[in-house]
Amino acid sequence: MSSIIGLVVSIKAVQFALWSLVCVLIIVRAYSLMKSVINAKSIKTYITQKGSERAITKSLLATMSVNQLRDTPYIAVPRVTVGASLPSCVKVSMEKLPGMYDIEKLTEDINSSFRGKLGAYAVVSSRITDDGLYYKFVLEDKGSDKTWRPKTLEEMKQNSHEIKLQNDLIINLADKPHIIAWGKSGSGKSSLLFSILLQLFMSGSEVYFIDPKSEFSAFQEFYPSERIQEDTEPILKLLRNVCDELRRRQKIVAKAVKKQQKIGLRGYDIGLTPIVVVADEIGSAVASMDSKQKKEFLAVLTQIVQKGRSVSIFCIVATQSPKTDTTLSSDIRSQFATKILLGSANAETQRMAFDGEVATKGGVDRFKGFYISDGKTDETPLSFAVTDLHTHHLNDLKRFEKAYKMGFQSDEHKKQTK
Ligand SMILES: Nc1ncnc2c1ncn2[C@@H]1O[C@H](COP(=O)(O)OP(=O)(O)OP(=O)(O)O)[C@@H](O)[C@H]1O
Ligand SMILES: [Mg+2]
Repeated sequence: MSSIIGLVVSIKAVQFALWSLVCVLIIVRAYSLMKSVINAKSIKTYITQKGSERAITKSLLATMSVNQLRDTPYIAVPRVTVGASLPSCVKVSMEKLPGMYDIEKLTEDINSSFRGKLGAYAVVSSRITDDGLYYKFVLEDKGSDKTWRPKTLEEMKQNSHEIKLQNDLIINLADKPHIIAWGKSGSGKSSLLFSILLQLFMSGSEVYFIDPKSEFSAFQEFYPSERIQEDTEPILKLLRNVCDELRRRQKIVAKAVKKQQKIGLRGYDIGLTPIVVVADEIGSAVASMDSKQKKEFLAVLTQIVQKGRSVSIFCIVATQSPKTDTTLSSDIRSQFATKILLGSANAETQRMAFDGEVATKGGVDRFKGFYISDGKTDETPLSFAVTDLHTHHLNDLKRFEKAYKMGFQSDEHKKQTK
């Protein structure tokens, strides 16, 4: 009798253990599913991502873009993950198995996998991660134009520290300090700077110009002329002044930290007016300097890009291709959180601009290009379009004067400069 009871008890115990195991497995699976859905931000996006992952894997198998294991009939299929921040872009990460090296073929496989609702999405850029273990692809809707075409000055007014660069891209300089744009002559560098300037003027930021090509000299009609410099010595003096201001602001922020007992406070948090050094054709400014002046110029610039963010002092620079203009070392370049490369560029130029193996797709139209905006080096570039000020005549000098006056008189400016 007791052995029968023992048997029943042990069967029950085994059943209990099995059910517990099943429950644990269900909970773990539900938890990971929930996490994935939260990451995807909606169930619909999650389903789209999973569908895309399956479609890509199927396409890799169909074209045998997989790794045939040596001397065996087996193949290894790379792990594919899809992340989407729709409608802006879809990001695909693919394990790089030994022997998988034809990125063009993989790009075709991915493009052919996106059908139906995502049919308009195509790979615009790809890169191999620095560790060589993954391919990263970015897909965007080829039909949508990201060009921002503001109609009025009022539309150009941004919150303090914010800059709108295109329809789906507003950056906050306090989080992503400094912008650099490269491009050949006529690619739209100065136009990009003009669109940023209108916004900086409107929001009451203080702008200092390094202007060796006299692009901004017309602003002297209404703008403090000592803030626009074209020649070497005045440029150096201007930068020294900005550096003095940087040190003064460091003390202000340190005081605020003590008073508010909050570590990590930034100029942005305590309402400092952004100071922005705008340099067009920085390469030609340096070309006319002797070696001592060049050394000082780069030292001061380094100070600003390294220490400016916490005290709201930023640099926005436009220059020729990083290959021809070697003024800025990769150390200085790496401090710019937003990097924009305008026009078509060869692989070497892309590598220098974006710090790594990058391939962007096809020819690039005028006033278009690619960007990364993170400060991280392991980012895959997204497509970029220069703001169009022409269509609604916002490129008139009078508009700049008006924008400056509106910004100067704004409540925000008055509050910040009190
Ligand atoms: N959206 C636009 N539509 C039409 N024309 C434009 C547009 N944006 C810029 N342009 C014009 O294209 C020309 C070249 O642009 P921009 O001066 O910005 O190029 P850049 O890269 O600064 O060239 P450079 O190296 O010669 O200074 C300018 O005459 C400008 O007015
Ligand atoms: Mg220019």
